[in-house]
Amino acid sequence: MGCSSSTAAKSAVPPTTAGNDSGRLAAGVPGASSSGTPPGNAVLPYYNLATLGGRQVFGPFLKLVSYDADTGDYEITALMVCSAMAQGSILGGDVPPQLVWGEAPGSGAGEAWPHEYSAGPAGDYAQPAGATNPEQAFTVVGSAVGERLAVWRDWQFWRFKLGTTCGEDPKQLKYKVDLVPGRVFTVSVPALTEAWHAAFYSCNGLHNPHDYGRTHGIQPLWVDLMRQHSFKPYHVMLGGGDQLYNDGLFEGPLLRGWDQAQDDAESAARAAQPLTDELREEMEEYYFSHYAAHFGTQPVYADALATIPSINTWDDHDIVDGWGSYPPLIQNAPIMQGVFAAAQLFYLLFQHHTTQERLAGDGYWCDSSSQLVQLGAATALVVPDQRSHRTQHKCLPPGYLQRLGKELRALPASTRHVVVMLAGPVLYPALPVQETLQKLDDVATGDDLLSVVMQKTGLAAKITKRFGMVFILDDIIDQWSASQHVGEKAALLRLLVSVADEKQIRFSILSGDAHCAGYGMFHSRPADVKPGDADDVPLPPADTRIADAGFIPQVISSAIANIPPSRPLLKALCVCGRKPEAVPHYEDLVQRMFPLFGPANDMDSLLLGRRNWCDVVCGAQGGSLDFTLRAEREMGSEEVNVFTIRVPPLLRFWQQQ
Ligand SMILES: [Fe+2]
Repeated sequence: MGCSSSTAAKSAVPPTTAGNDSGRLAAGVPGASSSGTPPGNAVLPYYNLATLGGRQVFGPFLKLVSYDADTGDYEITALMVCSAMAQGSILGGDVPPQLVWGEAPGSGAGEAWPHEYSAGPAGDYAQPAGATNPEQAFTVVGSAVGERLAVWRDWQFWRFKLGTTCGEDPKQLKYKVDLVPGRVFTVSVPALTEAWHAAFYSCNGLHNPHDYGRTHGIQPLWVDLMRQHSFKPYHVMLGGGDQLYNDGLFEGPLLRGWDQAQDDAESAARAAQPLTDELREEMEEYYFSHYAAHFGTQPVYADALATIPSINTWDDHDIVDGWGSYPPLIQNAPIMQGVFAAAQLFYLLFQHHTTQERLAGDGYWCDSSSQLVQLGAATALVVPDQRSHRTQHKCLPPGYLQRLGKELRALPASTRHVVVMLAGPVLYPALPVQETLQKLDDVATGDDLLSVVMQKTGLAAKITKRFGMVFILDDIIDQWSASQHVGEKAALLRLLVSVADEKQIRFSILSGDAHCAGYGMFHSRPADVKPGDADDVPLPPADTRIADAGFIPQVISSAIANIPPSRPLLKALCVCGRKPEAVPHYEDLVQRMFPLFGPANDMDSLLLGRRNWCDVVCGAQGGSLDFTLRAEREMGSEEVNVFTIRVPPLLRFWQQQ
């Protein structure tokens, strides 16, 4: 119970059980080579249809729709995206595509992953010969005709529904789509009583194409993830935001530099510009092309999306940096509203297999992509949408907390854990300079003192402005710890604690966004400690935390691909995060970061500045929830260290074990 950490030794073969302490990725395989052509995972500053190189079929991409803990009914959807021309030539006419599926016994141990990738000298991952699954015979038990969700230009979005009923033993769902001849895909479906196995990731891209060489792009940790999948299969993949970085939008022919307004007058002039058809076309082409390239053409990530059903939320970069945290003048400007509409159109299609009109019918809440999905009998996943209705003063959609309370109180009695997947962490150290900056909404570019502070902390090499705001001010206002959001954070925590107490459910928070790994927690403030003295509260012992409905652990896992913040900034954050404190506006709770990583990995142990993702076992030993952070040892090294946090259920269930 509580938390533990370990440092991995290099190991040639990852162990086959959860809670493992080491992992090393596969060495190259014969036949794998760098082709010399542009790498599959290249990061381009700007995307348009020409970027796709003539490719006209993308997918399949899977989404987990629902699991019914009472009946065992399990439903997923597959999405295919293709041009009308390709569809016509593959299917021999204007007929809707079809998907068929069958079932095979699953051992629960996964199937050997037939794909081995190796990085070439340029860091690109070559797809070796034989990586395409050979045609596998299976007995067809179901079929689905594609439902056309949308047509953009002549590109078709086809959705297929498939499912099964979970039984005594795990299964493999085998499926093929006639748009991808010769390929069979396998999905691992858990047994009725099995602990679901989830893979969480966030921040799946790079801001700067020049970082590609030293990082080896997005692939190294995706190879680690898929190797783990072959040892112990994942039932679901959780995208915690920034599944792709769309900031290149402002590199387009018409939009280049549009966001670089340096003062209020310039910002106001841009905000007054109309959204023309040409601008809308450029925006839509950018988002479509980037999604198709990022989801559909990278060898390892595309395999994951085709074989592990996803549940996603979005963060600002799925739209554009800082979305929701700009002043109303900017947010409401016709061009920015056009940006949002284009981002949302393709976010809903690619990441949720739905459209704005279908949201409510497809089980989403509050005119947003917010949802709740059961992950096995004992665990539910809450996914708030923190971007669709975000403003400088509000993170969550209107009416969200009321709806959440209602849904949580209606959870099946078997539920012991609820994981809240938040794009941005609610608990994260804040630098004092952030408060100062927040008060200064009129800081002149080049202000000497501020420049020095920012350079020393690594916050920015120099001060620039975006929409007339200091460049990083949107990032600061964007955090839950910003003064604008602390009330909403307290309201969310109050709801979680009251439901935890009422229903004896343990809540955990899983978040991304920060580009480092971290562990922290909320717990009840001892009655004999005044709120102002909370910085002296010792860590409650594990047996106290078990019985505490206010004990809400928070795991930060970020980024699977993007580069970590500078060491000076991380160090400053660790110094600021050392002391526990009473939660503003909810002083019954104490919030504290926890030194998980050990001095060998991080000087202050609170934040780990290495790329990482998180393995989650929903119902491990004693009914616990096990989070295992898998952090790259060195950038692009293909070796990981692992750190496990074991979260017990609330006392009542713990005693029943
Ligand atoms: Fe990010």
